[in-house]
Amino acid sequence: MNNKKNHSGKIADHVQKMGKSGIREFFDLVIGCDDVISLGVGEPDFVTPEVIRERVVYSLKRGQTSYTSNQGLMSLREEICKYIDKDYGVKYCPKTECLITVGVSEALDLAMRALVNPGDEVIYSEPCYVSYNAEIKLTHGVPVLIENTVKTEFSLDIEQLRDKVTPKAKILMLNFPCNPTGATLNLEQMKEIAEIAIANDLIVFTDEIYSELSYIKRLPTIASLPGMRERTVFLHGFSKAFAMTGFRIGYACGPAEIIAAMNKIHQYTILCAPIMAQRAAEEALKNGLGPMEKMRQAYEKRRDLMVKGLNDIGLECLNPKGAFYLFPSIKSTGLSSMDFAKKLLEEQKVAVVPGTAFGACGEGYIRCCYAASTEKLKEALKKMKIFVAGLKK
Ligand SMILES: Cc1ncc(COP(=O)(O)O)c(C=O)c1O
Repeated sequence: MNNKKNHSGKIADHVQKMGKSGIREFFDLVIGCDDVISLGVGEPDFVTPEVIRERVVYSLKRGQTSYTSNQGLMSLREEICKYIDKDYGVKYCPKTECLITVGVSEALDLAMRALVNPGDEVIYSEPCYVSYNAEIKLTHGVPVLIENTVKTEFSLDIEQLRDKVTPKAKILMLNFPCNPTGATLNLEQMKEIAEIAIANDLIVFTDEIYSELSYIKRLPTIASLPGMRERTVFLHGFSKAFAMTGFRIGYACGPAEIIAAMNKIHQYTILCAPIMAQRAAEEALKNGLGPMEKMRQAYEKRRDLMVKGLNDIGLECLNPKGAFYLFPSIKSTGLSSMDFAKKLLEEQKVAVVPGTAFGACGEGYIRCCYAASTEKLKEALKKMKIFVAGLKK
């Protein structure tokens, strides 16, 4: 007897309607292909610095295997608040204004769930990190889309923001340096955005996960501008700049009542982030930023290599000032983003992500992550050159 039941009709409507992450969908194709050079997944190729890994071993050997407070270890919250004060110029209280989460992913989810009522508008811009649109829909918010283009060098199109903000808008989502474009905001833009946020009583979520990976003098966070600390939720974590993706540690800092609301959800759903990963994050900050700065310098060299290489091939590419992504145009090839990525994978075994994975306005672009060794990047460029030349024949 076949006892298998199909439950697809029982899945919640909004989940059923949700598409798969475009990145994962493409990488399902990559799995099973041998010898692929991947410029795909946005993950540092560096191993977490040894001193941080050693701290985990030490804490485990000392039997530190328990839950922590829901909000996270006080000692880690203190280190984080010190770091943000020193490097970003914003003071937060570790007792009431800082929450340790499982990656920025959880921090973003909590912030959305704590603030969005069904029907509230959340303004965000594409091309963007794959989770934003899905997160808004999961909380029954209404996504209000700004399409950033090469005209603003993929920075936030402030004219569109002015046009799209309505009395129903509650949240403005920012992520600069941006995944997938590497775009940044300048101070003037930040001030204009702050003005709009204040005039329209918006809460700003600023996803700062790439903020240390900046190749110009680091800009302040929007939270540090006058009138913004009290309306900003600062989301950050250790995955990218510290090469700690697998540790799954992030945090949110912001007004005490918002952090308390987020912690309410966190305590019922997650309890707390793993203690050994929290210890590792504490070590990362205590140990100083030396290892991270070395990685940043390496990324900068790789960016220069790739920007030149892609432009030489004829794939027009801006020189972004942050993160570890390039977003070159493939329009000259006449292929769609998906076809370009699929064919490049099939013919040359180089994996890039179709720009459409980050929103429809990513059509005509691909995302290349340059967090890979120089040798691999050179090899990828060689193969991409052969591929593009082959298309012209
Ligand atoms: C912009 C952005 N925010 C958040 C995340 C998720 O980060 P975490 O590993 O801290 O959950 C990513 C991961 O790629 C990202 O690119």
